[in-house]
Parts: sequence; C-alpha cells; structure tokens
Amino acid sequence: MIDLHTHILPYVDDGAADLDMALEMGQYAASKGIRVIAATPHFYQIPDWAKIQSKVANLQKAFLQHQIDVTLVAGAELFMDLDIVAMAPNQIPTYGGGGKYCLIELPLQQVPMYTEQVIFSLQTKGITPIIAHPERYLAVGNDPNTALGWIELGCLIQMNTGSILGRFGHRIQSTAEIMLTHNMVHFLGSDGHSLNRRRLNLVEGYEAVKEIVGEEEARKLVKEYPQAVLKNESLQVPEGRKYEKKKRFWFF
Ligand SMILES: [Fe+2]
Repeated sequence: MIDLHTHILPYVDDGAADLDMALEMGQYAASKGIRVIAATPHFYQIPDWAKIQSKVANLQKAFLQHQIDVTLVAGAELFMDLDIVAMAPNQIPTYGGGGKYCLIELPLQQVPMYTEQVIFSLQTKGITPIIAHPERYLAVGNDPNTALGWIELGCLIQMNTGSILGRFGHRIQSTAEIMLTHNMVHFLGSDGHSLNRRRLNLVEGYEAVKEIVGEEEARKLVKEYPQAVLKNESLQVPEGRKYEKKKRFWFF
C-alpha cells in the first residue's frame, strides 16, 4: 500500500515532533504493510523545496539504519494561494520532484475565489492538482458536487482515512460515503500526524472503504492509482457521477 498524504517529516510542521516519532511512525506503517510513504508537510507560502527533499533523504537514511522497510517520497501539502500562479514549475512540490502531480489543500471554511485560476495555472505548468481531503470542506459538505466540479476541471481527489472512519464526525463521514459511491475519490491517504490521534491508519481506512465500494475499487485507491502518480503516469479513472440529493416531500 502507498500513503500519499502524511506529516511524517520531523521538525517541519505540526506532524512528527522529532526523529524518534518519525521512526516510530515508519515502524508502525511497515508493520501494517505500507511500503511507500509520501512525506507531505504543510506549506503556506512558497516552499523551500530543496530543504524538504534533503530532509526526506535524511529520514530515509535513518529508516535504513533502523531497518524500517519503507520507501519515502518527497512531497508537500501546498496551501491554495494565488502566489502559486507566479511559481515556476520546478518550484512546485510535486511528488518526487519534477513530477506531474501535486497535493493541494483548501481552507476548510471557504473555497477561495481564485481556486480555479490556481488549478488552471498548475495545469499549464504540466501538473495535475490532487485536492487534499475535500470531504472535510464546508462547501463540499453542503454540496458534494463541488468536488465533482474540481474533477471535471481535471483535478484528482484524495480522501482522508479518518473521514471515512468517522474521526471527524458523522457529517464528514456521510459526505465521504457519498463521494466514494459517486466515483469522486481517487486516493486514500492517512494524513497521519503522529502515533496517537491521527495515525498512519491507511489499512483501517482501506477496510472501511472496501465495505462500501468493494475490494477491487478500494485497492485502486491505495495501490494502483498512487503507484501511477509516483511513476508520473497518466491515470484512467472512472467518470465521476453527480450526486442527486434525495427530495423531501411535505404533506399538509
Ligand atoms: Fe495534511
């Protein structure tokens, strides 16, 4: 299995607090059969991409020294910002660097009005945006088809395991279920920050998703699709389906 969204890199954001915690997170992942982890620290401004890549290389060395059989890939969770438009393609923290996919998050409470402009700008740089955990966004909770709109613009969608496991509440869990059953999810990621509250619980998430979409589809979200991203291959995904809200009838 491949986890495309984690905060395992120590000392950079609110994820792993130190090297020991990063090693324990790696050990935990390895024990669960997760073989590849993308380190995707938060970036709110223009990221120091070279620094992330060197920190990931250092953590990989530490994994080897501690016999942790997990391959790390450098990435970032870019924050939706108009400044991205002015960034050169090689400044964008794509998976592995110089690649075709990057992870980008939006503020939870509102969709910035320049979102489509930034999506288009990334695409003109040859990069496909992967929207991080949209099931957690208020606008998507109000109307899951907001996520379908981003898919139709050419984005891909990463869902958090915690959302489908109910860790963010019932409303987000039910949005996650709607998205899964309408082909609006392409990757499952743990968004793991530590060993406690937000763990690298990709396997638990996979088991829950399997109950909803079946084993074959669930496997694509943790293996086939992420593998294609890390190889910079194009992805053939099933077409997203519009969610029709059940109408309520009132009788007087
Ligand atoms: Fe994250």
